[in-house]
Amino acid sequence: MPQSPVKQVQSAYGIWHNARIAPAGNPDQTISDAAIVVRNGVIAWIGSEAEMPAEFIDARLPRHDVANRWITPGLIDCHTHLVYGGNRADEFALRLAGASYEEIARRGGGIVSTVRATREADEESLFRQAARRLEALLAEGVTTIEIKSGYGLDLQTERKMLRVARRLGASYPVTVYTTFLGAHAVPPEYQGRADAYIDLVCNEMLPVLHAEGLIDAVDVFCENIGFSVAQSERVFAVASKLGLPVKMHADQLSNIGATQLATRFKALSVDHLEHLSEADVIEMQQSGTVAVLLPGAYYFIRETKQPPLELLRRHRIPMAISTDSNPGTSPTTSLLLMLNMSCTLFRMTVAEALLGVTGNAALALGKADRHGLLAAGRAADFVIWSVDSLAELAYWSGLNPCSAVVRCGLSGKAT
Ligand code: NIG
Ligand code: FE
Repeated sequence: MPQSPVKQVQSAYGIWHNARIAPAGNPDQTISDAAIVVRNGVIAWIGSEAEMPAEFIDARLPRHDVANRWITPGLIDCHTHLVYGGNRADEFALRLAGASYEEIARRGGGIVSTVRATREADEESLFRQAARRLEALLAEGVTTIEIKSGYGLDLQTERKMLRVARRLGASYPVTVYTTFLGAHAVPPEYQGRADAYIDLVCNEMLPVLHAEGLIDAVDVFCENIGFSVAQSERVFAVASKLGLPVKMHADQLSNIGATQLATRFKALSVDHLEHLSEADVIEMQQSGTVAVLLPGAYYFIRETKQPPLELLRRHRIPMAISTDSNPGTSPTTSLLLMLNMSCTLFRMTVAEALLGVTGNAALALGKADRHGLLAAGRAADFVIWSVDSLAELAYWSGLNPCSAVVRCGLSGKAT
């Protein structure tokens, strides 16, 4: 397979042809000798080149020969904490010396130490630090990303994080969805007063930041070292009243009933899930909640309990995969590496892994009508890969086969 780079085209119009296409990201449903016609940033037609309607053949659109490379929808990273100050390499050293993630959190390290660094950083510096990580994700074909707040834990710093997330979306060729994670940890000034902090989240932070247009969804860290089910419920009740969809960090370190609560609120997704039970899975099926699996966090905190893949399959729960990019449990900026890890660590199939970063990731964001599928009428967000088979996207670790990214008809930055 020739490796010469596909030309970057700065146009919202064109025909990409001589391609192999997986329109839904599924390697079992592909079109060979295929073409995509893009007009005005939107896919006007997609299919086998031999069947292209005459109006497009005759159209005077620039043609791009893809040289039989593979095309998939732009990748979606549906769970990230990309915006934060500093890093936690020192804590990593402590963990290597034997301390657990929970012990460090209980000693006042963990999330709270990133909160200190994030409060201290000005907006410009936070933007620069996150931009570096975003650029790495985009170079691997990410065109849509979710970014959470949750390292501010006061109104002003949560606002700063969400504003930086929005600015990243305005500055880079990527669609950003923001999630308010005010209930991520109890801030130091509320130590021992978690309920009073939840009052602040519910009565002030959430309504104000929503009114400022900074929130697309609401998340809670419901866990023995996070917030209780009752506290999480209060946050979800306010979110629902404001018309905001909810999602949850659930069943990561223990099972305290997080998923059961999330499904009562028809959560878009529950994320992590190492301690998920069959009763939880049945509830997820009824509420249409997506399972977001985060192999980077599983790997980095050296978790040994696996999310229950067989149960999720048996009950036909859509599974998404994400980086969970964050300084404490998953300091990664490679969604392709997560594909690899979901297969090697969780024994997912390549097809499950690829759906996990396309169609099912779009479902986890509640945006399946806009992302994760290449079809006429959809925005032209797609990636051209220099691979012989799509399995290579999960097979390599460290090699980036992304040859070009077309986003809304405009080429993004690819390596
Ligand atoms: O997704 N579990 C809680 N939140 C993050 C970790 C945040 C941190 O340690 O900074 C997670 O794993
Ligand atoms: Fe997370």
